[in-house]
Amino acid sequence: MNMKIAFVGKGGSGKTTLSSLFIRHLAHRGVPVTAVDADINQHLGPALGLSDEEAAAVPPLGGRLPLIKEYLRGDNPRILSAETMIKTTPPGAGSRLLRLDEDNPVFAACARTVEPVAGGRPVRLLATGPFTEEDLGVACYHSKTGAVELCLNHLVDGREEYVVVDMTAGSDSFASGMFTRFDLTFLVVEPTHKGVSVYRQYREYARDFGVALRVVGNKVLGAEDEEFLRAHVGDDLLVTLGQSDWVRALERGVRRPFPELEEGNRAALSVLHREADAAYEGRDWERYTQQMVHFHLKNAASWGNERTGADLAAQVDPGFVLREERAAQAVG
Ligand SMILES: Nc1ncnc2c1ncn2[C@@H]1O[C@H](COP(=O)(O)OP(=O)(O)O)[C@@H](O)[C@H]1O
Ligand SMILES: [Mg+2]
Repeated sequence: MNMKIAFVGKGGSGKTTLSSLFIRHLAHRGVPVTAVDADINQHLGPALGLSDEEAAAVPPLGGRLPLIKEYLRGDNPRILSAETMIKTTPPGAGSRLLRLDEDNPVFAACARTVEPVAGGRPVRLLATGPFTEEDLGVACYHSKTGAVELCLNHLVDGREEYVVVDMTAGSDSFASGMFTRFDLTFLVVEPTHKGVSVYRQYREYARDFGVALRVVGNKVLGAEDEEFLRAHVGDDLLVTLGQSDWVRALERGVRRPFPELEEGNRAALSVLHREADAAYEGRDWERYTQQMVHFHLKNAASWGNERTGADLAAQVDPGFVLREERAAQAVG
């Protein structure tokens, strides 16, 4: 199986914690994983065991956009320059596609290897980079998560490998189409009114675009919490995790062996894994490509054409469908 999985939710709900536990679960089982930190607050590196200094030294995708664009553009005649390539510019004939099992200039420039589980499989880590106050609300902010979107739109994940993305549930991901890029989205929800209201908003977008969405309850402390979530989320509630002493210990700097994670929480991670594997059946490359074109045309009209001074709709290659075999044919 090769799966693109997102963990989304409001700040503090436990996205980074659950992303990092799920990544550990996969690494422990020897599954190849690429972990992507796409949250405004970059915490995934430390959650996977990097020191703050090591995490800060991971080269941000957002800082390598010219390189990424120039590489992905390849010989695509519809994309006249890297400068006219925006975060939603879709691949077409001549574009270079990304494979997880290859060396390419994007991974060479930005990927770092982390070992979140002793004796487990090493994990590739990519990060969008931190957002400064200045970035919020302006082009740079979008261009940083945009690097992840560009990469996902050019990714043909054609063998058994997981991409796990830690990201916010903010309106930014809805405007760009980022939220449609995953085989399965885990929405992390605490048993609170705020948590549930994020769920309601996300569910509307997910429905409109056929996004597979499952809710993971977090910090669920007892039967009342469980009932509250069940009442508001219904069948979208997949599983719940409780307060974890293992996680608390990690926060104190005590790194316990992964198999010592509480049994209930380990069982919950297995449920996430099974659900993710099963989502592969829902994968539809044509719809995936159509959605990137949909969001590209929307972004082109609302700001892209004006920003670049080009007709970005002309970048769409109408005959192109992203799919696994394409990688072999793409320009070297
Ligand atoms: N299941 C859990 N057990 C114990 N602590 C948790 C759990 N989930 C989250 N936390 C703690 O809650 C805080 C916020 O979690 P975090 O994963 O950083 O949230 P987010 O990434 O959604 O902002 C962190 O201190 C984290 O360690
Ligand atoms: Mg986080």
